[in-house]
Amino acid sequence: MLQQKILVTAALPYANGPIHLGHLSGAYLPADIYVRYHRLKGSDIIFICGSDEHGVPITISADKEGVKPKQIIDRYHSQNKEAFERFGMSFDNYSRTSLPIHHETGKDFFLEFYNRGILNEKHSMQFYDEKAKMFLPDRYVEGTCPNCGYDEARSDECENCGALYQPDELKNPKSKITGQTPVLKETSHWFFPLGKYQKRLEEYIDEMNRKYGWKENVLQYCRGWFKDGLEDRAVTRDLDWGIKVPIDSAEGKVLYVWFEAVLGYISSTKELSAMRGEPDLWKKYWQDISTKYIAFIGKDNVVFHCIVFPAMLMAWNDGDKAKYVLPQNVPANEFLNFEGKKFSKSRNWGIDVSDFLNLFPADPLRYTLAANLPESRDTDFYWKEFQLRNNSELADILGNFINRTFTFIHKHFDGKVPARGSLQAIDEEMLKVISGYPEKISKLFEAYKIRDGVLEVMNLARAGNKYFNDSEPWKTVKSDKAICSTTLYVCLQAIYTLAELMNPVVPFSSSKLFYMLNAEKTSWDNCGFENLQEGHQLKMAEIIFPKIEDDIIESQMLKLGKKEETGEVKETGQITIDDFMKVQLKVAQIISAEKLEKSDKLLKLKVKIENEERQIIAGIAKSYKPEDLVNKKVVVVANLKPAKLMGLESQGMVLAVEDEKGSLNVISVGDPVKTGTRVR
Ligand code: MF3
Ligand code: ZN
Repeated sequence: MLQQKILVTAALPYANGPIHLGHLSGAYLPADIYVRYHRLKGSDIIFICGSDEHGVPITISADKEGVKPKQIIDRYHSQNKEAFERFGMSFDNYSRTSLPIHHETGKDFFLEFYNRGILNEKHSMQFYDEKAKMFLPDRYVEGTCPNCGYDEARSDECENCGALYQPDELKNPKSKITGQTPVLKETSHWFFPLGKYQKRLEEYIDEMNRKYGWKENVLQYCRGWFKDGLEDRAVTRDLDWGIKVPIDSAEGKVLYVWFEAVLGYISSTKELSAMRGEPDLWKKYWQDISTKYIAFIGKDNVVFHCIVFPAMLMAWNDGDKAKYVLPQNVPANEFLNFEGKKFSKSRNWGIDVSDFLNLFPADPLRYTLAANLPESRDTDFYWKEFQLRNNSELADILGNFINRTFTFIHKHFDGKVPARGSLQAIDEEMLKVISGYPEKISKLFEAYKIRDGVLEVMNLARAGNKYFNDSEPWKTVKSDKAICSTTLYVCLQAIYTLAELMNPVVPFSSSKLFYMLNAEKTSWDNCGFENLQEGHQLKMAEIIFPKIEDDIIESQMLKLGKKEETGEVKETGQITIDDFMKVQLKVAQIISAEKLEKSDKLLKLKVKIENEERQIIAGIAKSYKPEDLVNKKVVVVANLKPAKLMGLESQGMVLAVEDEKGSLNVISVGDPVKTGTRVR
């Protein structure tokens, strides 16, 4: 069979702040599940993303912090890239729109349109701040939406209802820079004649919907746009951060971020080509009509991906250069809210991805978000639901099925795949059920019903538990070992299938399970059959999904909506001197040190800080002999909340650094320094 060639993009997040769970639910997680599924299916697929690094919000942040925009994008690009990795996003490339390769792409498109006379230069009225002496980008102006009355609307677009309008339609405009009422002043910009493409766009969307079934929410947004009639859109802005407009008469102007950001998908693919040393790779996906191009986004991006971007590609394709593929589907999701309200950084409502992953592994989060994707309407993340999904589904259903099967086999069958005896009706039925799941889930994933597909994975685990219970192997192990053996054989086939089917949603746990099975993945289409042979040796079982305790969930719930004391830390990565001084670093002298019997890492230290004696349990046993530490003066965190380690209270922490060989070196100070001295 011909391998299907698929290009998947996920919206490029602004490098202007940390990504939160809402972003993951909107575009990234569904895209990742879809891509991982297709890789198992054997499709020829690439997965493209990157940071959107231009645009006014970034200049606003930079102004606020008094730094250059470059500093903002560098910070958030690397933070977000790392957060995505920890979350298990399997992008083939995560690029940035500030790269030269992207500036080239943006300029190419502009010049192509400009040279072919597609763009119209228009003089328009733009808000101008007389006090700041500058034209105000849309987001520097706030006012009341002429459509819905929302009072934090921008000059040309309302975040609340999605309306687009002309600046003079906005009510009560205020400059965000000076707070003054701005005046409308003439400037000139190049406009893309979106209206001319309306008919073709309507036909395109109709055709794609007829052939591939677009989501109802997406169609609704598009119909709304068409009904209002598409208007010319400016593709340039008066701003000095972005891609310079590549013509002489355009001093002080850059390409409008939305005009170029969508092209970032193409540039990111070009970068991937270069990295792989295959210069034509990007063309193979973008410029070949056999490519199936799917763009994953959140609902706020629908107009740009279903209307603006396709129109730009149509305009390009009308010329005589190599033609691009248009999105075949744009499975946009609605929004995820957090405990009943919108995510809000300023109100501390929500949680950043990296903070979340400091507390919990990625997989329970992926599963919880997937089980609750806002595919047809807004949904919510609740801490309690997260705990419940982990404890009662991942641990008690999936984890339990795996664990009881492994435990039983290690106890009664030497940890080897038991023999498949003659099948009884119940076994045949179960094998049939198992073999039906890959296709059932395929159908759902291919229809972008990611949530339903993921819930089916759990249904297979449920079926596994029921089969285990109904077969009562704890009885047959005594009465008829051949029957018992068959039961466990069938359970293992189900577990193997689960390992594969759960891979797209909980990839880390899937790898662990394959390791325990001592087996490799196969193809999606093959995984529902009997893949494990009698006698195959299994590894020991480990708990794949540990339970989450109440207190850690409750402490997160308590934090919500409260300002953090060190609010600045999260915004800028910087702390104040007061923040630093909260950490009491003091000199302490080690009086005694001894090994702990049950641990090869920990030493029990007695230290003296002035007149005080403390016990510290330190993880330095691999690097120091106890006797070498005695009398040393070291630096400790003196006001660390005491904690229990191996049942012993540790009243502080010794500072140490790791060297190249992985050996720890405690920070020590010379003898003349008295214990209790503050280190600062
Ligand atoms: N940065 C935009 C956002 O976060 C999305 C851009 S998608 C792109 O809403 F295709 F334009 F890059
Ligand atoms: Zn509005």
